Amino acid sequence: MKAKSSGLIIGISIGVVIGALLAIIGLLCFRFHRKRSQIGNSSSRRAATIPIRANGADSCTVLSDSSIGTESSRTSIHNGILSWIGGPRKSHVVAASGILEYSYKDLQKATCNFTSAIGKGAFGSVYKAQMTTGETVAVKVLATNSKQGEKEFHTEVMLLGRLHHRNLVNLVGYCAEKGQHMLIYVYMSKGSLSSHLYSEKHETLSWSLRVQIALDVARGLEYLHDGAVPPVIHRDIKSSNILLDQSMGARVADFGLSREDMLNRNATNIQGTFGYLDPEYISTRAFTKKSDVYSFGVLLFELIAGRNPLQGLLELVELASLNTGGQVGWEEIADPHLDGKFDERELNDMAALAYKCVNRSPRKRPAMRDTVQVLSHILKTRHEKKRSASEVVIATGQSDRQNSMNGEHCRAESLDSTADYVDV
Ligand SMILES: Nc1ncnc2c1ncn2[C@@H]1O[C@H](COP(=O)(O)OP(=O)(O)OP(=O)(O)O)[C@@H](O)[C@H]1O
Ligand SMILES: [Mg+2]
Repeated sequence: MKAKSSGLIIGISIGVVIGALLAIIGLLCFRFHRKRSQIGNSSSRRAATIPIRANGADSCTVLSDSSIGTESSRTSIHNGILSWIGGPRKSHVVAASGILEYSYKDLQKATCNFTSAIGKGAFGSVYKAQMTTGETVAVKVLATNSKQGEKEFHTEVMLLGRLHHRNLVNLVGYCAEKGQHMLIYVYMSKGSLSSHLYSEKHETLSWSLRVQIALDVARGLEYLHDGAVPPVIHRDIKSSNILLDQSMGARVADFGLSREDMLNRNATNIQGTFGYLDPEYISTRAFTKKSDVYSFGVLLFELIAGRNPLQGLLELVELASLNTGGQVGWEEIADPHLDGKFDERELNDMAALAYKCVNRSPRKRPAMRDTVQVLSHILKTRHEKKRSASEVVIATGQSDRQNSMNGEHCRAESLDSTADYVDV
């Protein structure tokens, strides 16, 4: 009997110990789970105030080379999965949107306590930051008193985190700490298109580069309009929002004013930049893809004329259109800095396209995909012309060789002209 009861006591004790152990394990699991979801929330709470977008159709497949390059320090990212990288530090948490959350402390260090300013816009100041991983990024600090900027912050983190294209300035991270909000972008070492067009600091942009820049921008916008799901309207296309990378590739920056197409219809305040704004938008307050096309048309004329919309660019265009009928004769508005060094036909084709883009009637404006086609055609024709010209030169070279064998001295001359064709 005694043995039986002591067996019972031992059984109960073991049961209590096992129960207590299970309860402790359960509690630990619960706390661990709660901590993980808190971290997740801290980085995506703000973003949750706007609807979550589906990934752009090609958002993963069209990652640009440069963005891959600048993200080299983040080899262990699992896109879209919350994970720790490099130990329990908040600085490298990947939020649900697939971008990184940086710590304030790291950014403070990387910007030498925010002394490395490279510019200032409506959103706040922009700093160049050298991360300990070796990558260089641009940090845009939201001005704390800017309500507009705060709104933009939410929009940008959500939108840009999901949009990737070689002609967009990709958002690589953000910081929301100590009451500060910052956006971290791929660093664009050659600065803005406007600085190249208007600052004495830079050499004149060659005509061929201007056409290439126009095509890059058109491709970035085409992606936003037709590649992203649902489509995105930029709303602030202008030369200071076009940034250039090391090899002078152009990318569209600043989606602060972007809205998803469907959320876009009833905005009450006029947003955007004077001089680039679609007159139809000003009168109806409805911003459409065609409003971006209008701003893109203004940008094309800016590239052609080297003149800012605030310096009477569109008045100049209207005057010129009286002679050109929208077709040919646009060379009279060519940027004087080009010093006549441009292909007349290319300039006329690009101006005719720009003129269609700024048509007062949105329906008559082309879609971005059409502008990509026209600009690609201009460049294709140029390459074909160059190729056939160099073929002529090579053929001439062969007959020169023949001639020199016949005792004539034309070879050096023809080699020089080959060099000219290659350099153009
Ligand atoms: N990713 C980046 N890489 C390099 N420089 C940048 C980057 N983003 C912005 N800048 C520079 O910082 C400056 C300020 O940019 P910001 O976008 O804040 O202002 P903005 O484009 O002039 O005007 P807005 O506020 O209307 O967009 C610009 O001169 C731009 O060249
Ligand atoms: Mg900008």
